Amino acid sequence: MIVLGIETSCDETAAAIVDDGRRILGQRILSQLDQHAPYGGVVPEIAARTHIDHLDRLIGEAMEEAGISFAALDGIAATAGPGLIGGVLVGLVTAKAIALAAGKPLIAVNHLEGHALTARLTDDVPFPYLLLLVSGGHCQILWVEGVGRYRRLGTTIDDALGEAFDKTAKMLGIGYPGGPAIEALAGKATGPGPDLPRPMTGRPGCDFSFSGLKTAVRQAVERLDDPGESEKAAIASAFQEAAIDCVIDRLGHALETMAAEMGSARQLVVAGGVAANRRLKERLQDLARDQALQLTVPPPALCTDNGAMIAWAGLERLRLGLTDDYDIPARARWPLDGNAAPARGAGVKA
Ligand code: KG4
Ligand code: ZN
Repeated sequence: MIVLGIETSCDETAAAIVDDGRRILGQRILSQLDQHAPYGGVVPEIAARTHIDHLDRLIGEAMEEAGISFAALDGIAATAGPGLIGGVLVGLVTAKAIALAAGKPLIAVNHLEGHALTARLTDDVPFPYLLLLVSGGHCQILWVEGVGRYRRLGTTIDDALGEAFDKTAKMLGIGYPGGPAIEALAGKATGPGPDLPRPMTGRPGCDFSFSGLKTAVRQAVERLDDPGESEKAAIASAFQEAAIDCVIDRLGHALETMAAEMGSARQLVVAGGVAANRRLKERLQDLARDQALQLTVPPPALCTDNGAMIAWAGLERLRLGLTDDYDIPARARWPLDGNAAPARGAGVKA
C-alpha cells in the first residue's frame, strides 16, 4: 500500500509518499520561515499564497524521488484541519484534484492525528499509548487507543508550549521561531536566572497554562536595563526549566489517572515541534526511567510539520477503510477527541 500525503496547515509546504513497510519513498518540505520572520509570526495570507506557489512542484519532486506515478498510489491524503484555513484549503483541494483525476481514494487527515501516529511510522509503537503533543498551536496530553480513538486528558487553557517558547524569544529579542533559539541560548547560561512560576503544577487534572509564566518572564526582562547575553541566557534557561517542570508535573498526573482507571501506561510518546527540544527529552527520559515507561520521541524532522506524518496517518486510515468523500470541507478547528469538554480560559485555541 502506497499513500501520498500533503501538509499545508501552517507554514510548511510538504508532500511525502510512504508505504505500509513504514518506508518514506520520497519527500519534500519547504519551510516558509524567511517569508514570515519579518513579522515575528506566521501571516496566514502569505502562508496560503506560498503554498499555492510551491505545492504542485514539491509533490512532483517527491513523486519523482519515489519513482512512481499517481496511478501507483493507493490513496491521496491531505491535512483537512485544524489549521490556518487558507492553507488547509490549498492542500485539500490539491489532494481532491489528484484523487479525482487518478481515480483514487481521498483521505482527509486531522493534522493532530498525523502527529499522534508518527511514532508508529518511525518506531512501530503499538496501541495504546500516552501522547504528549506539544507544538506551536497545541499542547495536549492524549490517551491514544487506536486510529481515530483519542481521549484528551489535558490541554492548555491559554498558550501552547511552543507558543510560550516563541513569545519568550520575542521578549528577549532573539528571533523567530523561538523554540530552537531559546534552547540554544539556555545552553549558554552560567548563573541562576529569575524565580519563575510553574502554573497549574500540583493542581488536579492535566491541563496546562503558560500565561502566568509568560508575564513573569516579561517582568524579569523589564527589570533589567539593556540585558546582555549572559542575563538573557539566564532568563532563557529559567523559562525552559519552568516550562518543562510544568510538562513533567502534568504528565505525572496523566499517568496517575490512567493507572487508576485502567492499569498503568507502558508507552509514552512525544510529538509536535517542541519534541525537538533536547532538555525536554532529557527530562522525559528521567520520567520514563522512574515510571518504567518505554519512551518514544521521533527524530526532530518528523516531529515538526511534515508530509510523511500525513501520508502515514492516511495509510493507517485507508487500511481500515476510512476514506472520505470529495466534498469533505476544510476545518479551521477539529478536536481529536470530540467528546472532550471545551477548554475554558483566555485565548483558548483548541
Ligand atoms: O509542530 P510544529 O512544527 O508546528 C505546529 O504545528 O505548531 O511546531 C512548531 C513549534 C514552534 O513553536 C517552535 O518554536 C517549537 O515548535 N520548537 C521548539 C524547538 N523546535 C521547535 N521549541 C522548543 N525547543 C526546540 N528545540
Ligand atoms: Zn503540527
